[in-house]
Amino acid sequence: MSPVSKSYKTIKLTKEQTTTWITLNRPNKLNAINATMLEELSEALDTIEKDSESRCVIIIGEGKRAFSTGADITELQKLTQETASKFSRKGQKVFNKVEALSKPVIAAINGYALGGGLELALACDFRLASEHAELGFPEMKLGIIPGWGGSQRLPWTVGAAEAKRLIMLGNRVKADEALRMGLVDKVVPQNTLEAEAEALAQRLLESLPTALKNAKHAINSVTQRSLEAGLKKERDLFVLLFSTKETRERIDSFVSKRNRKVGNRKLD
Ligand code: COA
Repeated sequence: MSPVSKSYKTIKLTKEQTTTWITLNRPNKLNAINATMLEELSEALDTIEKDSESRCVIIIGEGKRAFSTGADITELQKLTQETASKFSRKGQKVFNKVEALSKPVIAAINGYALGGGLELALACDFRLASEHAELGFPEMKLGIIPGWGGSQRLPWTVGAAEAKRLIMLGNRVKADEALRMGLVDKVVPQNTLEAEAEALAQRLLESLPTALKNAKHAINSVTQRSLEAGLKKERDLFVLLFSTKETRERIDSFVSKRNRKVGNRKLD
């Protein structure tokens, strides 16, 4: 694999012949997505879009534990009603860019895919999961809702009933259950995940790039009109929750439990 020349802080971009890998690279934070990662993902997607040699993209998480555990909760803690809208819009835009990319995008889910991590995977065209992957939307625990397209792409992918079980009950599902509900396309052993993703990319590369691109855009147009309105609705409802004391308390409590844990570790 050869690294693409630009260096990033929170992702890695590597090119292997005609496939480009994007690795979410904050393993100590289980690849939680912060503002820098969103910016870098956006830049990387622009680079790949312009690179005619790059014909397929695979997104994976660094390390063995997580694809991504979602939005960085310490950034959620700082949101006000004013900034929450911008925060939601930014994530929605970047994930729209994944969906609109003129090349197929595969999510290789190598562990937790939670909240924004799962929203990113849902914007991809294909989802492969390792046997130990766990997927879900823990937003209810924080008193919020998915704000980066999950409330729209999840029901389109698995139907409203499963989407309600995942989002409203906050059920976290293992890979085999995710496969049953159509949330992932295939479950593979952890040590073959990368090879399986590459094999899928190779199969896609057998098709004409323009035929693939047109197929992707035609299929995405099924949801496009309602997606635009749905994303606006999601954003408005996401923002409303940031005006409530109860939401703030839940987010603070999650972060302060973390701080206590870190404090305890330091005492050990
Ligand atoms: N935002 C910020 N930090 C996160 C994070 C997130 N979404 N997910 C994990 N991390 C950090 C943890 O704070 C911890 O950092 P620390 O070592 O500095 O304390 C580190 O990643 C490792 O996570 P930890 O919680 O110690 O691992 P665990 O095995 O005990 O638990 C999870 C794993 C996934 C159950 C737990 O990390 C979790 O619930 N994360 C939040 C998921 C979430 O609610 N995402 C939706 C956000 S909208």
